[in-house]
Amino acid sequence: MNAFMSDMPDTREKPKGGSPGRAGDRSARPEPAPLRLTDTTLRDAHQSLLATRLRLEDMLPAVEMLDEVGFHSLEVWGGATFDACLRFLGEDPWERLRELRRRFKKSRLQMLLRGQNLVGYRHYPDDVVAEFVRRAVGNGIDVMRIFDALNDVRNMEKAIEVAKAEGAHVQGTVCYTISPIHGVDSFAATARELAELGVDSICLKDMAGIIAPYDAEAVVRRIKEEVGLPVQLHCHHTSGMAAMAYLKAAEAGVDAVDTAISTMAMGTSQPPTESIVAALAGTPRDTGLDLDLLARIAAYFKEVRKKYRDFDVGTTVDVNVIRYQIPGGMYSNFVSQLEEQNALDRLPDVLAELPRLRKEMGYPPLVTPSSQIVGTQAVLNVLGGERFKLVTKETKAYMKGLYGRPPGPVDEEVRRKVIGDEEPVTVRPADLLPPGLEEAEKEVSPLAESVEDVLSYALLPQVARKFLEERLAARTRVDQSLLEDLRDQEARKVYPTP
Ligand code: CO
Repeated sequence: MNAFMSDMPDTREKPKGGSPGRAGDRSARPEPAPLRLTDTTLRDAHQSLLATRLRLEDMLPAVEMLDEVGFHSLEVWGGATFDACLRFLGEDPWERLRELRRRFKKSRLQMLLRGQNLVGYRHYPDDVVAEFVRRAVGNGIDVMRIFDALNDVRNMEKAIEVAKAEGAHVQGTVCYTISPIHGVDSFAATARELAELGVDSICLKDMAGIIAPYDAEAVVRRIKEEVGLPVQLHCHHTSGMAAMAYLKAAEAGVDAVDTAISTMAMGTSQPPTESIVAALAGTPRDTGLDLDLLARIAAYFKEVRKKYRDFDVGTTVDVNVIRYQIPGGMYSNFVSQLEEQNALDRLPDVLAELPRLRKEMGYPPLVTPSSQIVGTQAVLNVLGGERFKLVTKETKAYMKGLYGRPPGPVDEEVRRKVIGDEEPVTVRPADLLPPGLEEAEKEVSPLAESVEDVLSYALLPQVARKFLEERLAARTRVDQSLLEDLRDQEARKVYPTP
């Protein structure tokens, strides 16, 4: 594949045309360029608002319009879409990608990859990671955004290496979070590590939707100054601050931001495309996008969204996200977990437990899978009567270092309680995993028709097996009915009826 984003502005410092500025003068700013927008409607927006249920058939009628807009890229794959396709929709995620690739003639397609976790929830061996990345690019992904929940670049390096070798634009990701040990220095340090691995651009990912506008400005400015790569900001509108964060980031020179079409925007989704376009119109960062075309797309998704109303979480500002600085989904998970245990009155205890636990675990950013690990353990610590009396196997693995290096030191006393005398791991976790592809192929061989099928199985064994069995059953039924038809025809030939 060609070098993508060759049209992305060179953001390294250069003096304004003809101005005499001293060499290395920090005030010499690059020429302002249009702010580029990545559309998330077909991935993050419906993952956030409609439980990832949007079907390909409801995407396709919008593709031609979306392709005309001139987006920086369209995020269409990865995250939870892979799982949801197989688990809930009876759709082959690979086929979805191929179909979108066929129909998008002009636009770059982007995906979100959870580093060594790919689009699953645990670390996969390097051979599975390498083949998955190769097939994702081979089936149509142009831009691969790669993150790790703990900002441990060792968990991203394999995917980065392979995606680069395959010719994709590789975007290394810094997960934003709020804690006593996180700040512009630590985020810039992670960005530098990613730059050293050869990524093409940096994404600052505010998955919880908690970044405040002036913090966005400060972090973006610092990363741009220190790393010299294009920077993209990804926010969720959960706290209601995301569009303001984009504006301040745009002033600080951010190259691109993620938005969703207005009728699929806000709430836990991204800020609305049209609002950003209008806010910057006539300014040096004018996006140049056509509001009339965007309005047609918005009208289409307004109707489509009605079909999914059973899954629709709505679009209000979640004040709890601001109060507790946790992802929106986490708070609602607490409520439903406690309701199930008939213990909703313990919610304040869980909310008090969370920061304490997070500190003991070295302040992990809260994103899949760390948000689930920390959240479940917080509930167990409260309901178990005694802290760490009940421990999930994920908490054990985390404390053993099997998810990677936590951002800060973990509490050693707690670690002893959780893993006993076992030695914590300090190597890259995937170095401990034996290859997995051949084994997966053996296990699923009668059902798999392609390497992509094997990969689906390697990632989500039970879910993929069920999907592949149902696919086979559906085809066999068709074949049998064909056979019966043929037999009938034969019968008619031999014994012609009048
Ligand atoms: Co997101």
